[in-house]
Amino acid sequence: MRIEDHPVLGTAETARPVRIWLGDEPIAARGGEPIAAALAAAGTRVSRLSAHTGEPRGVFCALGRCTDCVMTVDGVPNVRTCVTPVRDGMRLAAPPLPAPRTRARRRSLPAPAKQAPVPSVAQLRSLPGYPSEARVRRGPVAALECGEAIPCDPCAAACPTGAIRVAEPITNPPVLDAERCRGCGLCVAACPGMAIFVLERVGADALVSLPYEMLPLPRVGRRAAALDRRGRRLGEAEVVRVRRPQSFGRCAVVTIRVPARHLHRARAIRVTP
Ligand code: SF4
Ligand code: SF4
Ligand code: FES
Repeated sequence: MRIEDHPVLGTAETARPVRIWLGDEPIAARGGEPIAAALAAAGTRVSRLSAHTGEPRGVFCALGRCTDCVMTVDGVPNVRTCVTPVRDGMRLAAPPLPAPRTRARRRSLPAPAKQAPVPSVAQLRSLPGYPSEARVRRGPVAALECGEAIPCDPCAAACPTGAIRVAEPITNPPVLDAERCRGCGLCVAACPGMAIFVLERVGADALVSLPYEMLPLPRVGRRAAALDRRGRRLGEAEVVRVRRPQSFGRCAVVTIRVPARHLHRARAIRVTP
């Protein structure tokens, strides 16, 4: 399935049809689209099997950062299919995948994941990427709310001070050296899971810098609803800083001011027109 007419992005442009191969299966694609998009349109969502568990993997970040979508393409292993455009005649080595659009393939798809429970504040504070209360009181510091065993480490690559480390194997959770963190926010923008925030205490208030991927960006001074991790309204927030420099890529980092009691809870905002 392809979205031909998107309410925000508009109508899909006409693209040159190309054909790629998943093993022996021809797949119709559109010139310029990512391999993973062509596979998804053909009904194939599994790119590889986990070396550890044998479980299927597919697009996760769609940003070229997590490696879940890698396949062998034209004999080259570990190609990130979510950011690699199709080329006519391209050959993808099929992992043990059934052909697209068949009953057998549909049976092979993983059952839809149950909604993961939202971790408690106590659980998050026990993670190796979460700073201590004493450190938060000394100045802005990153809080990495990342405890899943996923193959991901762009936060470590983004940090200019070496404050974040992901030990081998890459599925280990990121570890924060809070003393090296200067609260710049680069890791907030780099995390495909939107799992990093910068926390700061200022008197009776808390400043929370969070990733913000929607447009238009809120203006400084704007009032918004502060939301918790479940999207429930906590109270009012004030937007005090909006950053989107080139070094942040496409993700903006918005800083909100909330009462200090929401420091570990306010993780999103809802801006109403
Ligand atoms: S906020 Fe900046 S210094 Fe701190 S961990 Fe993130 S990238 Fe590194
Ligand atoms: S914090 Fe973000 S970038 Fe770092 S390992 Fe977790 S999901 Fe990946
Ligand atoms: S889905 Fe392609 S790298 Fe994450």
